[in-house]
Amino acid sequence: MDPSTIDQELDPANFNPEIGGVVTENQIFDSTETTVYNWHYEESNPKLRQLYERGKASQWNAALDLDWDTDVDLESELFISDPAIEGEDWYKKLTKGEQRRLLVEANTQTLSQFLHGEQGALIATAQLVSAVPDMDAKFYASTQVADEARHVEVFGRYVREKTHGGYHITESLFSLLKSITEESRWDFKFLGMQLLVEGLALAAFINMSNRTKEPLLKKILRLVMQDEARHVAYGVLSLNDFYIDMSEKDRLERQEFVYQSTIHMRDRLFSTEAHERVGIERAVIQDFMHRSEHVRNFRNLMFINVVPNMKKIGLLSGFLEEKFSEMGILDLQDFDSEGLLQSYIEGENSLAADRAKAEG
Ligand SMILES: [Fe+2]
Ligand SMILES: [Fe+2]
Repeated sequence: MDPSTIDQELDPANFNPEIGGVVTENQIFDSTETTVYNWHYEESNPKLRQLYERGKASQWNAALDLDWDTDVDLESELFISDPAIEGEDWYKKLTKGEQRRLLVEANTQTLSQFLHGEQGALIATAQLVSAVPDMDAKFYASTQVADEARHVEVFGRYVREKTHGGYHITESLFSLLKSITEESRWDFKFLGMQLLVEGLALAAFINMSNRTKEPLLKKILRLVMQDEARHVAYGVLSLNDFYIDMSEKDRLERQEFVYQSTIHMRDRLFSTEAHERVGIERAVIQDFMHRSEHVRNFRNLMFINVVPNMKKIGLLSGFLEEKFSEMGILDLQDFDSEGLLQSYIEGENSLAADRAKAEG
């Protein structure tokens, strides 16, 4: 994969996935993944088979298991204010009403990216069914396809029914989804989707779950996180050992892809569109994002899953180790991301303690 493709500019003329907006042409990508038939039907990977069984047993129904009649008051209960911006002069100048609206807009923007990312996961996982060589890996990917469809369903419905309207996909997420979709090698799809996009999404779900009091959204996030924990495990299990015997040149190509994607997502993860909708100039918000320690810490926390997982699959050495160290995220390599996630899935009693630990 050529990392420079991640930086290509979007042509807005080709592209308008705005929810509830004007219906335009569907986005068409040329994907070239290899399709593999496997004639060995016996169990080949017990751990993957076990995960497949868990996947089947853990299906939930988005239409029946969630109370869609919940009356959501965006202004008063959806989002807790953001400590990162409260000290800013431009923020203090806003009226209380404008501050509430900014929070709602910023979080709607994030929810919209969850939705677009979930569609990326749906498509990438469908490609994996055909591209992965192992039959147990195909089985598992098939349950994930159903999971991702459900995620698109819930976030789509929430944004449509409970917010004032969704946002376009950000340029950085779009470029990453495009490069994953068009990539022919299955392990790059795993790296890009299961470990990078899903890893970042999980961190963002945890953050949003901490910041909302709204019961319907909290339940959606918990159910989705439960599925995503399996998906990340699938990525780690599938790539475990895959890179051990790989040539240095091929390993480096993977490490460069991870690094470029990480930098790209870190620097462009936060869009200014929500702030612009409430009248704050782009330069003002960009300046804030550039110098704020809160934003920097938060950005690094987005990698609490990515860094330990790179270590688990054996890519965190040499080039990547050096680059993660430069970025200041290498210390996250032994972070217990699975434990943190489990505490969110199982209950909320230890949220505050875990958050303090994560920030610690
Ligand atoms: Fe998902
Ligand atoms: Fe997923």
